[in-house]
Amino acid sequence: MAAFAFQHTCDVRVRVFSTSRAAAHALASAIARALTANPRLVLGLPTGRTPIPVYRRLAALHQAGCADFSRASTFNLDEFLGLPADHRSSYRVFMQSRLFDHVNLDPRRIHFLNGAAGDVERECERYERAIDRAGGIDLQILGLGANGHIGFNEPAPALIARTHRGVLTRSTRRANAHLFRDRAVPREAVSMGIATILHARRIVLLATGRAKARAIERMIRGPLTTRLPASFLQLHETVEIWLDRAAASRL
Ligand code: GLP
Repeated sequence: MAAFAFQHTCDVRVRVFSTSRAAAHALASAIARALTANPRLVLGLPTGRTPIPVYRRLAALHQAGCADFSRASTFNLDEFLGLPADHRSSYRVFMQSRLFDHVNLDPRRIHFLNGAAGDVERECERYERAIDRAGGIDLQILGLGANGHIGFNEPAPALIARTHRGVLTRSTRRANAHLFRDRAVPREAVSMGIATILHARRIVLLATGRAKARAIERMIRGPLTTRLPASFLQLHETVEIWLDRAAASRL
């Protein structure tokens, strides 16, 4: 009878920086280095408050001639359902003002889920195909919801592997309310799935601040559970978790 050895390949690499600024700057430099090593880099990008200093620093590195995006492609993780790309509260507009306006990305290589698509399922399939056609994601940057969500993969009894439509939790809608003047956050969103994310060749999750400490502890030390979607990152061969001291305070 054949004998099988099960090898545990997961390798969570945690880096703790003294401040959130130091972590953000290090991540911007890592992205710039990845662009130099592979000018056709396919980047997966998050929204949220956490990556704002990363994008600011990347814009500065670009200004200084140290980050050339001319041949790179980007795929953002998610978008609110029902919001057209030019809606002032859309993630598309967020990315435009925070990063895209300040670097030399070719607009044809900026990829986004269309939150206002008539046929949402087809839109999700289109996105998966576009990622495949680009050759897959080389470097996926992630943020982390305080409830353990990544992208808009919310804690639930079951998760959907690929890009899909999903319902937002009350806490996530509250966390995103600052983007909406009337605080009327959509109830649903479209997001890459956990498997879409796990297919990236390199993943760096950036989390800063004490509010993320509990989710960080559970995602690194806890079991895989759909109640904490980020825990599935343990399945990636070389996931990198970059933290400031506050986010690492429970490790
Ligand atoms: C949103 C996004 C996530 C992001 C999270 C954390 O819900 N869909 O991709 O990681 O916010 O946001 P923040 O960085 O503001 O804490």
